[in-house]
Amino acid sequence: MSIQSIIKGTGSYLPSKILTNADLEKMVDTSDEWIVQRTGIKQRHIVSEGETTSTLAIEAAKQALDASGLEASEIDGVIVATTTPDLTFPSVAVHVQAALGLPSKMAFDVQAVCTGFVYALSTAHSFLQTGMAKNILVIGAESMSTLLNWDDRTTCVLFGDGAGAVVLGESHDTSRGILSTHLYADGTHKDILCTTGGVSKTQTAGTIQMQGRDMFKQAVTLMHNVVEEALSTNGLTDADLDWLVPHQANIRIISATADKLGLSMDKVVVTVADHGNTSAASIPLALDQAVRDGRIQDNQLILLEALGGGLTWGAALLRF
Ligand code: ACO
Repeated sequence: MSIQSIIKGTGSYLPSKILTNADLEKMVDTSDEWIVQRTGIKQRHIVSEGETTSTLAIEAAKQALDASGLEASEIDGVIVATTTPDLTFPSVAVHVQAALGLPSKMAFDVQAVCTGFVYALSTAHSFLQTGMAKNILVIGAESMSTLLNWDDRTTCVLFGDGAGAVVLGESHDTSRGILSTHLYADGTHKDILCTTGGVSKTQTAGTIQMQGRDMFKQAVTLMHNVVEEALSTNGLTDADLDWLVPHQANIRIISATADKLGLSMDKVVVTVADHGNTSAASIPLALDQAVRDGRIQDNQLILLEALGGGLTWGAALLRF
């Protein structure tokens, strides 16, 4: 009997502290008008003292587990997509496993920057397909604010913190589930978006630096290509899509992708104005918001897509 991977529950969590564009105007030479016009971002949530990526991940995971109706004992894996772990090791995933009292089965982090959640979901899907697990918590969690140079106006206005989670579980209902995933990376572009340091090079975490224009150009083309590939692989077209849930980096990239697909913006889940770019957390945060407010319904066709540092990019097409 064929195994399907379905999303059994979603959850998300945002730290309570909000940093608005007006707050940033007091910190660097920028304006609300510039930020909104170029990115669509109005505010972002930021971790406070005592909050870390794992505290955000744990709250999102609790919600997803609750929504799935499963017991903690039924979860046989945790995969966390993050670029901002609490510690170099152990992983955020083992923090989540311990906090939720999950069984002593696999728990690990995946690092593919903003594409991390799509990579993690695809990895979990593969474990389910091969029968190695029945239910996996897949989480995207980030504290991007801790990687920012707060004197660099070209990056500090863009990012935010948060976490989103899903329980991906086995099902034998062939009408639903993940239809396909598509993962890519091109390390020749590794310098377009990177940190200034890292454990083995500088013994620090470094801060984010980005060639914004190059990133923008790559994003529009590569996201369009991967989205078309996901649809054509399954013999579907843009018209079949109910919702596009894109990585939330910039409203202009999101609109350009929707435009190229001929998709109206009211079929696109957009959270970038309120969350900023939360890297690997942005897709599961947007997904959970649209599930909880009733926009995303069972059996709808949903396309997730992302691009980030590496470069990495990817998509997942699923019948919710
Ligand atoms: N406030 C005011 N002015 C600014 C700011 C700011 N915060 N930042 C830059 N500027 C200035 C620049 O200095 C420049 O001034 P100049 O013309 O006098 O030299 C001017 O604004 C234009 O700068 P650009 O960088 O050319 O602006 P652009 O229109 O490209 O917008 C942006 C910049 C928003 C970063 C855009 O390039 C972008 O969104 N890029 C893609 C980012 C992205 O996709 N990231 C996804 C991956 S993120 C991840 O993986 C973690």
